[in-house]
Amino acid sequence: MTERIIPLIDARAGPPASPMSWPEALLGAHGQLKDTRGRSIHDLRISVTDRCNFRCTYCMPASVFDKDYAFLPQSALLSFEEIERLTRLFVAHGVEKIRLTGGEPLLRKNIEHLIERLARLTTAAGKPLEITLTTNASLLKRKAAALVNAGLKRVTVSLDAIDEDVFRAMNDVDFPVAQVLEGIEAADAAGLRPLKINMVVKRGVNDHQIIPLARHFKGTGHIVRFIEFMDVGSSNGWRMDDVVPSREVIDRLNTSFGLTTLEPNYIGEVAQRWAYTDGSGEVGVISSVTQAFCADCSRARLSTEGQLFTCLFANAGHDLRTPLRGGATDAQLTHLIASIWQPRSDRYSEIRTAQTAALRKVEMSYIGG
Ligand code: GTP
Ligand code: 5AD
Ligand code: SF4
Ligand code: SF4
Repeated sequence: MTERIIPLIDARAGPPASPMSWPEALLGAHGQLKDTRGRSIHDLRISVTDRCNFRCTYCMPASVFDKDYAFLPQSALLSFEEIERLTRLFVAHGVEKIRLTGGEPLLRKNIEHLIERLARLTTAAGKPLEITLTTNASLLKRKAAALVNAGLKRVTVSLDAIDEDVFRAMNDVDFPVAQVLEGIEAADAAGLRPLKINMVVKRGVNDHQIIPLARHFKGTGHIVRFIEFMDVGSSNGWRMDDVVPSREVIDRLNTSFGLTTLEPNYIGEVAQRWAYTDGSGEVGVISSVTQAFCADCSRARLSTEGQLFTCLFANAGHDLRTPLRGGATDAQLTHLIASIWQPRSDRYSEIRTAQTAALRKVEMSYIGG
């Protein structure tokens, strides 16, 4: 993997004595870090493992992620201490929300210990950090109570079909849908509500599940979001023909149930929100292919081994682990993060073409979704 750190300031030379003396170019009008398009860092998505017990055909196809696939060794993974330290430094740059991802984050041993550490941190404004997690729910029944006790407030479950045969075919490890539903119930009962349920829609594979899945969760308080299938990574064989545009998803839901629009919860929200007209809840669509949302993209991604990615579609990251393990001070690391974010100009989804879709990109299971 090639490096693309652009050292505006050489981190090895040491940072200025205090953030106040940083070059103004690194900071926005209110002293907050901004990239070249005026975007700050609001979310940090942390991948805690590159492993998963599913082999979803669009994410970790079994033909590529087979028994010979070289997952990262334990020593390469950021430790909980390292993740906590980096998170503190990102928070100083304005991060308010953390999403733990993978791979399957509940496969990381003692993940609740990491949540406990992160839940103790507060934002620059003194509020608790918002901590959430995206899971396939296979281990949720077993883990829900421990996650809540550790301080987790919310969880998002990936579920691509409600039909047993379609679900088993999509996860490609014959995992039964009933166990995912039990995990969702356990999370709900433990207080992780409302849950968000993410369904990646692939034409001809599970698009006939849009209505049944929506119907299953309608009236439960959980929020289903339909995601356009994206060209992340280099192994999922993406084709534009496989994408079901969100507009079509909304039309189908509207015909079956009746929908009305809802305002975004906050600027830069990834999902477009809709309500059932009969008052029975909310659904959403995530239109990353047909209506790109790069203009407000305030998400940084930290890979399992400590590479910082400024875009989901990047082909290389910026190594934070080497300076972290090499004795860099907090001020040096803070400065390094700023020097990576400030020159950022990413807007992959806005400029996607057949050519860019075919480029080699980092896998989503490594960088986190
Ligand atoms: P909530 O706070 O729960 O609303 O989180 P969120 O809106 O960030 O949603 P979530 O983290 O569940 O992301 C849902 C899906 O949206 C991901 O799995 C991706 O498929 C897609 N997504 C999220 N962030 C980005 C992004 O920055 N770029 C692109 N292209 N897709 C994204
Ligand atoms: N396109 C869209 N979403 C994807 N995810 C994984 N791969 C893709 C893809 N190619 C989503 C999963 C899960 C999260 C981890 O990322 O559905 O919700
Ligand atoms: Fe695992 Fe989620 Fe990828 Fe499926 S989408 S293989 S559950 S990380
Ligand atoms: Fe952000 Fe890149 Fe996604 Fe655009 S494509 S929203 S820049 S992560």
